[in-house]
Amino acid sequence: MFYYKLLWSTHVVVFCNSAAVRQGIVDTVQKAVSDPQVKSVVICGQNGIFCGGADIKEFGKDISGPPLVPVFHAIESADKPVVAAIEGSALGGGLELALFCHYRITHSKARLGLPEVTLGLLPAAGGTQRLPRLIGVPAALDLITTGRHVTAAEALKLGFVDQVIDQNTVEAAVKFALSVVGQSLESRRISTLPCPCPDADALFEGVMQKVRQRARGAIAPVTCVQAIQAAVTLPYAQGMQREQELMATLFTSAQARALQYCFFSQRVVSRWSMPSGARWDTSKPKPVTKVAVIGLGTMGRGITVALAQAGLSVVAVETEQQQMIAGQRAVSDMLERAAQRRGVSSAVYRVRYSMKLEAVADVQLVIEAVFEDMVLKEQLFKQLSSICKADTLLCSNTSALDIDHLASQTRSPQLVVGMHFFAPAHVMKLLEVVHGPRSAPQAVATAMELGKRIGKVSVAVGNCRGFVGNRMLMPYSQEALFLVEEGASPEVVDRALEEFGFPMGFFRMSDLSGLDVGWRVRKADGLVKPGQMSRVRQGRRYCPLGDLLCEQGRFELPRGYRARQGLVSRRIDSKEVLERCLYSLINEGFRILEDGIAAGPEDIDMIYVFGYGWPRHRGGPMFYASQVGLDRVLQALEHYQQLHPDVPHLQPSRLLRKLVSSGSPPIHRWKEVIKKPHSAL
Ligand code: NAI
Repeated sequence: MFYYKLLWSTHVVVFCNSAAVRQGIVDTVQKAVSDPQVKSVVICGQNGIFCGGADIKEFGKDISGPPLVPVFHAIESADKPVVAAIEGSALGGGLELALFCHYRITHSKARLGLPEVTLGLLPAAGGTQRLPRLIGVPAALDLITTGRHVTAAEALKLGFVDQVIDQNTVEAAVKFALSVVGQSLESRRISTLPCPCPDADALFEGVMQKVRQRARGAIAPVTCVQAIQAAVTLPYAQGMQREQELMATLFTSAQARALQYCFFSQRVVSRWSMPSGARWDTSKPKPVTKVAVIGLGTMGRGITVALAQAGLSVVAVETEQQQMIAGQRAVSDMLERAAQRRGVSSAVYRVRYSMKLEAVADVQLVIEAVFEDMVLKEQLFKQLSSICKADTLLCSNTSALDIDHLASQTRSPQLVVGMHFFAPAHVMKLLEVVHGPRSAPQAVATAMELGKRIGKVSVAVGNCRGFVGNRMLMPYSQEALFLVEEGASPEVVDRALEEFGFPMGFFRMSDLSGLDVGWRVRKADGLVKPGQMSRVRQGRRYCPLGDLLCEQGRFELPRGYRARQGLVSRRIDSKEVLERCLYSLINEGFRILEDGIAAGPEDIDMIYVFGYGWPRHRGGPMFYASQVGLDRVLQALEHYQQLHPDVPHLQPSRLLRKLVSSGSPPIHRWKEVIKKPHSAL
């Protein structure tokens, strides 16, 4: 909706941006600009928000209504001052409109930015041509290629707003607009400004290299650089033309679709549901202010920091003296740095330490992060159940153990859920909230709400070995090892995965997290047989290379290993690496959907994007499968399964077959094909 009113001699245009009102904006602005009685114009938003940009739901469809850029140019060339009054946010098209105004008055709490790149696009209403003219090429490159939002104070410092105020922005803008009536507007028209850039070639070469590296195959950031380069090398009108051409290549790209899918999916996963029918909108979370963390190791430290930073009062319990000292120091250091960044005293963070479990008696929620050892965790849950109040939620950060079994150790199994964080827990955005068949909807709602409060993308998942993320990682890691057995070097495997867009390939990742992590899990599963080379374990193909590396404490060259196993090497290309690693991971994703462990493909995709470094511009594994074509994924799996009949994870899942035989519906319609979910346990 929009309306306008005549205030003294200043015209105030109120607008918001969607197809339905585009014509309205055009008419109103034209009227205000051409009415001789109006001496100055203020443009503001409705309900305290200037403009959050285009309506993203329109993307991918034909955008109706008149084009806005010519109208925006009419604003700029008006012979009366036009002032933008920015409250709330001016993002994307909203900020671009403000850049056509002669002045920008901003409320101190407003956020500004050009986030188009995060949706696979570029700011195509002059953003790439105008911002560098106003604030210089390097600053514009930073804002446009990262899409980051800035505060009003930073915008003032960078020079794209003229005043920051704490009071009523529209009133201040009206006053300001009246005060500048009659003043020359020459220097206020951004299109007429030069775009100086000394050493442009060297600057763009360096920036392009950096952006390509950071983009990991994403095309939008690179295209943004090209558009800004046009601002330097071409006259304004031609630069605007170039911006349109570059936008046209992005607008219909698969990457833009993937990034927009991620944008929506992030919201979809917050609207969680359980196989029982319990849902986000019918389950009320319990208020939580006091939390305990048990175990101050790698994970416990990060979890404590994340909780304390969100304003919760935390009791951290650790039984080993040395770990307590080291843990306490690490937490204090991290909180000290956080306090410095926020410009507050670290005294605002409330963390208490204790070596006695009794210290948790009065908390509302406990997060257990002790060693991955079922016997230890069983004991701990029994103890917690008798120490804590009857309605305290008991959560485990276990990576793969059975939540339902842990629940059975307590007097209130309905109050036990998994809260599976990712390392480092104060940085990584993902939280898997694991519900067992007995978990109460309120317990899930409370864990999901707590996740949100500490800034995580929380995804509710069912209970099974490895939950969603680690369960899908299993076939992926096995394929990486099998490929090395068959002749690929670890570098070849990693390169293919890194070129696909992962920050690290499987082998580099394993080196970083420690080869012994997986070794311990395999030992617990009874798969490790010290000194033995057998390549069949528990009736299926097995690669003992990782175990040998750990047992011998040195790097055993795959070549020697292959010779001893009598394996003949062959050349393996990156296509095979990607198909075998990724399609087997995706296949497991279909099994997870079939089992009702994840409510929908969006849940799996967000877990992979936020927890496992899956490149966002490829939308997550299930979205990727839909883009590749489900029939192609199925054919490839069938092909590899024939070649490797001893590898069960290559056996195409029932759901994948069913989707293909239903004509491969688009991803948002998969749920119609998935049978009534049931628990895997
Ligand atoms: P860690 O070995 O670094 O720390 C475990 C800590 O628990 C140690 O400081 C130990 O002294 C303490 N502890 C043991 N028994 C205790 C007890 N009864 N009371 C209080 N403290 C006790 O282990 P990490 O890596 O932090 O893992 C903890 C849990 O988080 C495990 O279940 C693990 O599977 C899970 N996890 C680990 C991830 C990782 O990347 N390290 C990622 C996600 C989950």
